[in-house]
Amino acid sequence: MADAWNRKYVLKHKDVAVADIELDDATGAISAIAGMHDERHVPVGIPVKKGRIDRAALNEWWHGRAIPASRDGIQEALAALSVATTHKLLDKSLGLSLSDQYWICPSNAEADWSRLNFFENDFSEDVGNLLLGLRTTGENISLMSPDNTSDGWLKKKWTVIDGKRCLIKGGSGAIQQEPYNEVLASRLMERLGIPHVSYTLLVQDEYPYSVCENFITPQTELVTAWYVMQTRQKPNHTSVYQHYLNCCEALGIPGMVEAMDRMIVVDYLIANEDRHQNNFGVIRNAETLEWIGAAPIYDSGSSLWFSKPQALISPTAKLVCKPFKQDHQEQIKLVTSFDWLDLSALRGIEDEFREILQGSLFIDEARCEALCFALRKRIDMLAEIVHSRSLRIWVDDRSADVTENIAYSGTPADDDWEPDR
Ligand SMILES: Nc1ncnc2c1ncn2[C@@H]1O[C@H](COP(=O)(O)OP(=O)(O)OP(=O)(O)O)[C@@H](O)[C@H]1O
Ligand SMILES: [Mg+2]
Repeated sequence: MADAWNRKYVLKHKDVAVADIELDDATGAISAIAGMHDERHVPVGIPVKKGRIDRAALNEWWHGRAIPASRDGIQEALAALSVATTHKLLDKSLGLSLSDQYWICPSNAEADWSRLNFFENDFSEDVGNLLLGLRTTGENISLMSPDNTSDGWLKKKWTVIDGKRCLIKGGSGAIQQEPYNEVLASRLMERLGIPHVSYTLLVQDEYPYSVCENFITPQTELVTAWYVMQTRQKPNHTSVYQHYLNCCEALGIPGMVEAMDRMIVVDYLIANEDRHQNNFGVIRNAETLEWIGAAPIYDSGSSLWFSKPQALISPTAKLVCKPFKQDHQEQIKLVTSFDWLDLSALRGIEDEFREILQGSLFIDEARCEALCFALRKRIDMLAEIVHSRSLRIWVDDRSADVTENIAYSGTPADDDWEPDR
């Protein structure tokens, strides 16, 4: 689409012009920002100083829209497309995405968002099919696809099912466990009343996939925690957890402590190893820029010992933990309140997991049993933590009462249990 004499674009947010930019043909990078039209609509977390957008940061954001170079099977797909890098695919579909509302409009073109966006207009599944390995040739392919801007390392494609935009995502390696984990995590959050993206299982050519509906609408967009955290400088003495909450508070995003409590609890239960800063975030209205709140929990598949051999499936073994602490035992201490949590709602969830795993060609009975046992044990371990927390609050309250009674003849004490943040 962009040739040597036509590299000028307007970066747009729906129909709002944000900035005039130039793309370098050879690299797909933003080589110049000619001018800014609307500072309020500059992508969240990209610094603007004295009316100028930080080009390096905008470039990082722009390249971050491309399929990561680490995506499973990407080299084969790029070879079939005769395209050198995933960055070069970005402008082929004008940078349009199904997770936010930014795009680039060729400067000399009359184009409006309503006629182009993938939420309301058809899109090609050619690239998606290539990425999933469902086709192998790049001939006669249409590149007008939201798959050019999809993130994450697992194979995936967007499709339309019953008129709804859905993301189909595969598993990895010899165990292919991620799709099953997504389904289990959905059921677990359903039982606990936690806002989440609901995933179902699809088996195609004997391989499992998870399917979820788009949780973004033409009016909203996902801003990941990574970009929320770029809105302010993080002081050295402030933890990542506190920094995230501080940024959300400064932006006026409601309900974040409660949302983080729920995410940390879920990740503890399913032993999630990959809740990195792009695997959670917030939603805002892309037109009014009003913040709506935490995004429903999505991408919980890299959990439940998904990449471990059966012998290493242990509920008590130390695992990788993100995003706030390196150990789930530490991260769970960040939870402010467990008052909302009813673990009795998880009674029998291990049997539900067994049913979900049934029929997998990749997970044998022994692994299935080890997983169900480990999941039950994680729930018991959390119950223990919740119990000892409430005991500790009770004891602290009692001793405070006694001390207060002696010192101040019964003045109420304000010594709520404070976790180490
Ligand atoms: N249901 C959805 N609606 C809108 N956007 C979504 C949805 N699910 C995922 N996304 C977007 O697509 C990106 C990739 O999806 P996802 O995180 O599930 O993939 P992944 O390959 O498992 O990622 P990772 O590399 O973190 O393991 C997400 O970071 C998010 O921006
Ligand atoms: Mg992800």
